[in-house]
Amino acid sequence: MNTRSSMTRLGAASVLTAVMLLTSACKKENKEAGGETAAPGTATAPAAEKKPAAGAKIALLLPESKTARYESHDRPHFERKVKELCSECEVIYSNADQDASKQQNQAEAALTNGAQVLVLDPVDSASAAAIVTRAKQSKIPVVSYDRLITGADVDYYISFDNEQVGKLQGTALVDKLKADGKAAGTIVVINGAPTDNNAKLFKAGAHSIIDGSGLKIGAEYDTPDWSPDKAQQQMEQAITAIGKDKIAGVYCANDGTAGGAIAAMKAAGVKPLPPVTGQDAELAGIQRIIAGEQFMTVYKAIKPEAETAAELAVALARGQPAPAGKVNGKVNNGQKDVPSILLTPVSVTKDNVKSTVVADGFWKAEEICAGDYKEACATAQLQ
Ligand code: BGC
Repeated sequence: MNTRSSMTRLGAASVLTAVMLLTSACKKENKEAGGETAAPGTATAPAAEKKPAAGAKIALLLPESKTARYESHDRPHFERKVKELCSECEVIYSNADQDASKQQNQAEAALTNGAQVLVLDPVDSASAAAIVTRAKQSKIPVVSYDRLITGADVDYYISFDNEQVGKLQGTALVDKLKADGKAAGTIVVINGAPTDNNAKLFKAGAHSIIDGSGLKIGAEYDTPDWSPDKAQQQMEQAITAIGKDKIAGVYCANDGTAGGAIAAMKAAGVKPLPPVTGQDAELAGIQRIIAGEQFMTVYKAIKPEAETAAELAVALARGQPAPAGKVNGKVNNGQKDVPSILLTPVSVTKDNVKSTVVADGFWKAEEICAGDYKEACATAQLQ
């Protein structure tokens, strides 16, 4: 950790040297990637290069705010870690609210504002390639954060093993329905946004377990924008099509969509609620699990994901490669094998809330057990 503490002592002069190093490192990288993918009409105004920044500016571009993780975990952990490693650095933060063209504008604004690194969680994995092309014209490195940017010259990718997320969800649902004597039951499948590469991986992972398990898929939907409201409407349709007493289980790709599906079932008087899957271990999801309304979620430790992205971004801003020992794989994004850092997801049910999210400090028992959840927490021996 010597390197890290000496890095934090870097002064303005060293930052300038780092910027120069970064420029030459990126020149080399751009040559390797061919640099011929520039969109016509976008080759002017490499504003980021011209501005002598007082401290490195790092852009964090997140995709939406309906899913709680981004504002409650990703952003604060990232910003805190950048400050810790580089007090003179500035984070330019934007959230695209699920709007790909808004994200394009936000990236453009960050570059104009002098961002020296883009940490980009794309709304649309494919169209975000244009942002990468634009950044590369200004010789700015791009870290693909949580969602893979496809068909682009991305420098690094940091995420979880996303196919494994889908497998954990599928396995939990199949095993639970077997245990309940419903191994041949009918389920509803609610996937994520088709524009999100992660959603494709969750879906593939889940199908690899569900298909051939004996369960029947009565209805399946992709959920544009990962919108909980759309998931609720889809579940209403599924209830009408299948019948409210004939749904053995519901696969939902994340806790937001699970919340929508559960709301639709409660409104339709489905009782008892069938097992529902989720992802993100968001507070509302964990509370539903404790209260017995949602069967499982997938805990992805966002703190190390955001902190590692911050370490990577600070290193890149200083013209250095990824900190040693972090990169643990490569993921092909259709254009190249992107050096990747992939973390491990964990399946969570009522039985292991305490030993996972609580033990890890993701949520405190007091937060989960506030208000209406006091009693359920006592039964689940959380408090
Ligand atoms: C993330 C999930 C999140 C979903 C909706 C995915 O790309 O990996 O954690 O729930 O997007 O924002």
